[in-house]
Amino acid sequence: MAVKGADRPADRLPQAASMPLARLRKHLYERAPHHAAPGFMMDNDIQGRPAHVAAIRERAEVEMRAMGVDEVFIGRLVETFYGRVLTHPDLGPVFDARLSGRWPEHMEKMKSFWSAVAFRSGAYGGKPVQAHTGVADLTPDLFPKWLALFAATLDDVAPSPEAKAWFMGTAERIAKSLTLSLFYNPALDDPTKKAG
Ligand code: HEM
Repeated sequence: MAVKGADRPADRLPQAASMPLARLRKHLYERAPHHAAPGFMMDNDIQGRPAHVAAIRERAEVEMRAMGVDEVFIGRLVETFYGRVLTHPDLGPVFDARLSGRWPEHMEKMKSFWSAVAFRSGAYGGKPVQAHTGVADLTPDLFPKWLALFAATLDDVAPSPEAKAWFMGTAERIAKSLTLSLFYNPALDDPTKKAG
């Protein structure tokens, strides 16, 4: 029950009175859209609304199945793509410098990442922006190369044109979001800070 006369944020939410404090805090402060990583589709609402979540997953499952996307395809996409990344003259050295000795873990992580994005499963709990922060020699010009290689890989392994379009569109949005998070400098858009 709400305390009479108090103006706690909880009192403004009808369902909040019955929530444990930790969950309430999450509900109030961690779901605000301006706190969400731009462009990333990990669903912040994934907890606490089981029926809604189940409906989202069911829809994703139907949509993916209609395009021929399943776990076998995702495994093949990841294996083929990173196999080609390694032989790419510009991308290969950047990836291998960071992942040497850790490739099997990276492959598993990327499979669970793509599976979570496609099937909205919530199974991937990583932090992609942070993961890229310390990658040596990661420059913005590498992103178009990454995307071109991903497109060429999809041309060879995607089960349907719709599947290619979905994976490509998703990768492009994430690449844009990563590029902004990693390289965007607001000062460059501020006329007062521009050198004359
Ligand atoms: C030129 C472009 C890119 C480069 C050089 C790059 C490189 C890397 C490297 C080296 C890691 C391993 C980090 C570590 O474990 O220490 C990594 C992780 C990852 N990358 Fe990229 N990446 C690029 C673009 C992308 C794009 C476009 C996506 C998404 C479509 C993506 C998704 C991820 C994810 C999900 C991880 C795992 C993050 C985690 O640890 O949870 N990357 N990337």
